[in-house]
Amino acid sequence: MSASSLPSDRLPRYDRFRSYEWNREHAPDPVDIEVPSVPGTWDFCGLPIESPLGIPAGPLLNGRWCLYYASLGFDVLTYKTVRRCFHPCYEMPNLQPVECGQVDEQTGELAASEKMQGTWAVSFGMPSADPDIWRADVEQTRRMLPDRKVLVVSVVATVESGQGTEELARDYAACARWAVDSGADAVEANFSCPNVCTPDGQLYQDAEAAAGVAAAVRDAIGGVPFIVKIGHVASVEAAGALLQAVGPFVDTVSMTNSVATHVRHSGQLLFGGQKRGICGAGILEASVRQLRLFAGLEQKGFGPVRFIAVGGIRTADDVRRCLEAGAVMCQMATAAMVSPDVAIRIRRELALQQG
Ligand SMILES: Cc1cc2nc3c(=O)[nH]c(=O)nc-3n(C[C@H](O)[C@H](O)[C@H](O)COP(=O)(O)O)c2cc1C
Repeated sequence: MSASSLPSDRLPRYDRFRSYEWNREHAPDPVDIEVPSVPGTWDFCGLPIESPLGIPAGPLLNGRWCLYYASLGFDVLTYKTVRRCFHPCYEMPNLQPVECGQVDEQTGELAASEKMQGTWAVSFGMPSADPDIWRADVEQTRRMLPDRKVLVVSVVATVESGQGTEELARDYAACARWAVDSGADAVEANFSCPNVCTPDGQLYQDAEAAAGVAAAVRDAIGGVPFIVKIGHVASVEAAGALLQAVGPFVDTVSMTNSVATHVRHSGQLLFGGQKRGICGAGILEASVRQLRLFAGLEQKGFGPVRFIAVGGIRTADDVRRCLEAGAVMCQMATAAMVSPDVAIRIRRELALQQG
């Protein structure tokens, strides 16, 4: 059967019952499938693209995964967060489905579910290949990606005990420079990972440190488009402080990484009792609220910064809502992993509505 006639439930996807390493090694080949055009003119930080649809850091474990999702109608591909050294993945489960409605900062814990119903707890710990491997892979991927597809590389620092903000900033900056030297069209610095306890995971909650790191990265990459990825921020004070701190250095802020909660299974807390980032349909409302909060502040002069909407997006209506709320681009991790043809369905609907 040719790829274009493959039923959507037969498209290859990440297998959550297997390890991260297995999934990295078993990346699917690009498919030859019809991708509907989206009316309008789109760009990402000035780089021309064909739709406002992208994949955030996470599902694209290496260059082959980037090429696969590029063939499925995504235009901005974010290479999963990399580091200055090899870093192992947490043990399984890396993806634990949960029972929930809409999740927010008041949600203390969620029950694990056997079946994926649209929302899961994510627990990878930001693994990374050795830099020699990811740098060569980024270089090759950029060469193989079609024009008008943007390759973003997400980076994070690797903190040793006793290190302060200066070392953290130097580490982020060095990884960012390597990404650019390897051909990345844009760099994303991950300032939020609810699944790690080190300062790199909480940087978005410390405006002063975030500004220091953002300044160092900007210095290292010159005029290359620069995104900062942040976690869940619900208060106007915290949002204003963060935007003022990073605004002078970044082109775009990407939100929301996830909303962190505990997860309980058969009476026991999973993940050693630590919180994990909840991703997927259950964080859509919290993400849209946060986007509106930041976009409102930006209009009051806390900028100029543009916004990438992430968190719970899975339909054309979600995309429209996020664009109306002030985003320039919409990215999907969970929806794209569960339904690899989601961009094709959204593009078809956007074309019909505007046609
Ligand atoms: C499998 C998986 C791995 C992820 N890994 C990363 C990562 O390495 N770096 C990062 O910034 N975010 C990571 N994320 C978070 C996503 O980029 C995104 O912010 C989150 O999943 C919310 O979007 P969604 O609701 O569309 O899944 C990961 C998410 C998933 C599902």
